[in-house]
Amino acid sequence: MSLLEQIDKSRTPRHVAIIMDGNGRWAKNQGKERIFGHSHGVEAVRAALKAATKSGVEYLTLYAFSTENWNRPKEEVDALMNLLVHTIVGELDELDENGVRLHAIGDLNNLPTDCQRELQRAIEHTSGHTRVNLILALNYSARWEITHAVKAIISAGTRAEDVTDDLFAAHLSTAAFPDPELLIRTSGEERISNFLLWQIAYAELYFTKTLWPDFREDDFYAALLDFQSRERRFGKTSEQIAFEIQNPIAGNA
Ligand code: FPP
Repeated sequence: MSLLEQIDKSRTPRHVAIIMDGNGRWAKNQGKERIFGHSHGVEAVRAALKAATKSGVEYLTLYAFSTENWNRPKEEVDALMNLLVHTIVGELDELDENGVRLHAIGDLNNLPTDCQRELQRAIEHTSGHTRVNLILALNYSARWEITHAVKAIISAGTRAEDVTDDLFAAHLSTAAFPDPELLIRTSGEERISNFLLWQIAYAELYFTKTLWPDFREDDFYAALLDFQSRERRFGKTSEQIAFEIQNPIAGNA
């Protein structure tokens, strides 16, 4: 049985987030420049999106460029921005045909103008699609997002006693999406790197040694199967969870 066939579709996470890591090391292993790894990373993006669609994941968030990534050498930053623009433009028909709705989160106003323009065009163009949502985190960092939300809440004159989890979440750039239930990071690094800090409060974390450019559909399915093998307790005990599974109505009351 293929890995895809082994997935229990009734327990697929609605939202999977990925920290795509290892492009530079992959390129170095081939004796090539870092951007060669980023270019090959696009094939892995296609594979992850295809796997998300086939397995019934509704939201796929990819960490494509962090606010800290501006500190990389200028040639790499320029090449990454070019790659993003070319990929968005080049993949638009494919996104369209596959019912993919594109979104972006992050400090988008500080991206290069052509990147903002093409991104906006693709977001508007795909806004009617409902099969799967692809969310690109661009010029994103969770601390930026949290600070931004705090400023907006204060500017609105909100009283301290009115600040709740839900109100705070509604001021994040992910307000329209459910929280990710699964966070994947490739390349063997086991860090969160300022990604979706609020939203991953209860996410399962999955780390794989696979370098991002080598990531393919089966790697995505392997992560989903691992997710489905875990017991998600949300602060409760194993006994309570077992009781709720056996007595769905009583358990939820
Ligand atoms: C991290 O690898 C990867 C990035 C900072 C960029 C990710 C970008 C892509 C995969 C390009 C295409 C993306 C889209 C959404 C079109 P790294 O460079 O930090 O690798 P290293 O840790 O091995 O140096």
